[in-house]
Amino acid sequence: MSNLVRFGISLDKELLDGFDTLIHAQNYSNRSEAIRDLIRESLIREEWIKEEEIAGTITLVYDHHQRELANTLIDIQHDFHQLIISTQHIHLDHHNCMEIVVVKGKPKEIEELSQQLKSKRGVKHCSLGMTTTGKELK
Ligand code: NI
Repeated sequence: MSNLVRFGISLDKELLDGFDTLIHAQNYSNRSEAIRDLIRESLIREEWIKEEEIAGTITLVYDHHQRELANTLIDIQHDFHQLIISTQHIHLDHHNCMEIVVVKGKPKEIEELSQQLKSKRGVKHCSLGMTTTGKELK
């Protein structure tokens, strides 16, 4: 890293001890990497708030025997086709399917897509993971 900058942080000892315990449990090898991740998280949250384009994944688990559900989920995805980069379908067992929908777009539209999928009867779980497109971060 050519533009590496070092800076000091003054902290209450108790706060630092708590932070060290936390980052140890999270397998960070040093404080710098943990602090870098916290800063990145804050910047990514700011991208969501500012309505910047974000990337993400919507992970669904559903029972494909539920009447019309698979078709309904496909119809919804076609309504939002401009957001969807790819989908992966995994047959978990005889009844359950997992679908991973990779998305890129405005956070509000992605949340709308996720909410529409989640609200359908027979969808057992739906989780939305939002991350950055990486463009704004070093
Ligand atoms: Ni399946």
